[in-house]
Amino acid sequence: MRLFFASWPPPAVAKALAQWACEAERGCGGRMTREDTIHLTLAFLGEADLPGALATGRAVRMRATSLPIDVARYWSHNRIVWVGPGKVPPELAELARALGETREFAGHVTLLRKAHPSAQLPPLPPLEWPVREFLLVNSTLGPEGPSYVVLERFALT
Ligand code: 2AM
Repeated sequence: MRLFFASWPPPAVAKALAQWACEAERGCGGRMTREDTIHLTLAFLGEADLPGALATGRAVRMRATSLPIDVARYWSHNRIVWVGPGKVPPELAELARALGETREFAGHVTLLRKAHPSAQLPPLPPLEWPVREFLLVNSTLGPEGPSYVVLERFALT
């Protein structure tokens, strides 16, 4: 088990982000995240025990919120291009903590891996990514990249 809690975007947002990634790839190369796997990790649990993770998810009583996508950045330490909030909203950081994230929450949506730095990333379209639920997901790593299985969905109020 390689467990994590995440938020998945509505299909229209995933589509717009995949299109953006396609444009960005022209400038900085790399491997694009498949449209259906675009997500925000809220808490990465890794080899955690499933009953414990389910109990954690079920115990959360928090309000629905949204993920601002207002910056696009390149991280040289792991060579990814990501989009997300320039400043993490406190309620998302709180949700990540409640779900077991122990490090400072660095909310980011990875769109390109093994990229190289580009002088300029394309402008982002306006996007509305509501966070009305979160998912417990198991990740397996295969030759064609990661594949994800949703184990349970949890509603926010
Ligand atoms: P990434 O996009 O920055 O690679 C499933 O692998 C999700 O968990 C991905 O969103 C990934 O983030 C994140 N993830 C993988 N390994 C991690 C780790 N050791 N610590 C934190 N997040 C991790």
